[in-house]
Amino acid sequence: MYPPILGIESSCDDTSASVVHNGYILSNVIANQEVHKEYGGVVPELASRAHQANIIPVVEKALRLAGVEKDEIGAVVFTRGPGLMGALLVGVSFAKGFALARKIPLIEVNHLQAHILVHFIKEKGNEVRHPSFPFLCLLVSGGHTQIVLVKDYLDMEVLGQTIDDAAGEAFDKCAKMMGIPYPGGPLVDRYAAEGDPNAFRFPRPEAGGLDFSFSGLKTSFLYFLRDREKEEPGFTSKNINNLCASLQSTINGILLEKVVEAAKKTGAVNIALSGGVAANSGLRKVFAEEGEKRNWNLFIPELRYTTDNAAMVAITGYYKYLEKDFAPLDIAPLARYSY
Ligand code: KG4
Ligand code: ZN
Repeated sequence: MYPPILGIESSCDDTSASVVHNGYILSNVIANQEVHKEYGGVVPELASRAHQANIIPVVEKALRLAGVEKDEIGAVVFTRGPGLMGALLVGVSFAKGFALARKIPLIEVNHLQAHILVHFIKEKGNEVRHPSFPFLCLLVSGGHTQIVLVKDYLDMEVLGQTIDDAAGEAFDKCAKMMGIPYPGGPLVDRYAAEGDPNAFRFPRPEAGGLDFSFSGLKTSFLYFLRDREKEEPGFTSKNINNLCASLQSTINGILLEKVVEAAKKTGAVNIALSGGVAANSGLRKVFAEEGEKRNWNLFIPELRYTTDNAAMVAITGYYKYLEKDFAPLDIAPLARYSY
C-alpha cells in the first residue's frame, strides 16, 4: 500500500488536479478557461492568471471528491513541460510549496508521456483493458503529433512527428478560417457528422518516413475557401458541414496512413490513441474499422481522458513514485521537453 498522490496539470489552458491511490483515480477536477474564446486562441498571460485563480479551488475540490485529507497525501506530481512557461510556472510553484510544507516528495512529469499513460488509469467500478508493452501510440493534441513506441511505462521512443503544425492545430486553424470559434476541433467534429467526407478533396502533404506535415493542408484550405467565396459569396457557411467532413476525413486519413505504416515497420499489433484530437469521433471510427481489418488490439481512451487532465499526470507520477524518481525542490519548468 502506498499513500495517495496529488497530480497537478497547468501546461496550457486547463487547470486540473487529481488524486490517485495505488494506481486508482479517486478524483479528476478540470477548470477550463473560457477567457481565450474571444481571442481565437490561448493568450499565455491570461492563461497564467486564470491558473493562479483556479489552482487552489481545483485542488481543494479534487481532495474533497477523493475523500482524502491534505495530510494523507504522500507525494505531489506536476507537469514540468512542454507547455506555456507562465502556465507551467503556476503548477510547478504550487507543487513545490505543497511538497515543502508537507515534507513529501515532489515528482515531475512530461505532459506528452502523461497523455500516453492515460491508458493505465484504473477506476473502481470501471475496469478497462490496458495495453501490454510494447505498443504504438498515436499522440495527437493541439501542440503535438507523434507516433511513439511505448516500451515500458517510462521508456518511450518517438518514431515520427510533425515537422510543422500539429493535427489539433490544423483542426483549429482551418476552423478559424471557417469562422468557427476556438478551439475549433470539437465543433468541426460536430458539423462533420452532418456532412459528406467526399464532398471536397484536399491535398495530403507528405513529410517522408513516419513524419507528418499539416501546414500545406492549412494553406490549400485557405486558398480553396478564398477562391470559392469569390465565385459564390457565402459558400463557406452554406457548405460548413461538407467542408468540416472533408477536412476531418483528410486529417484523419493522414494520421491513419502513417500509423498503418508504423505498425507494418515495427510489427506492432497493440495500437493506442491519445491526446485531445483522439476525442474526434471520425478518428475513433476510422481506427476502429482499420483495427478490425488488421486485427489490432486497439486502445482508445474515454473522452474525458483525451484532452488535458491531471489524472494522466497523477498516474504517471504514480509510476515514478514506484521507482522513487523524485525531483529536487529547485527544479524549473521546461517550455520544450522531449522524452
Ligand atoms: O490534448 P489537448 O487537450 O491539449 C494539448 O496538449 O494540446 O488537445 C487540444 C486539441 C485542440 O486542438 C482541440 O481542437 C483538439 O484537441 N480537439 C479535437 C476534438 N476535441 C479536442 N479535435 C478534433 N475533434 C475533436 N472532437
Ligand atoms: Zn495535452
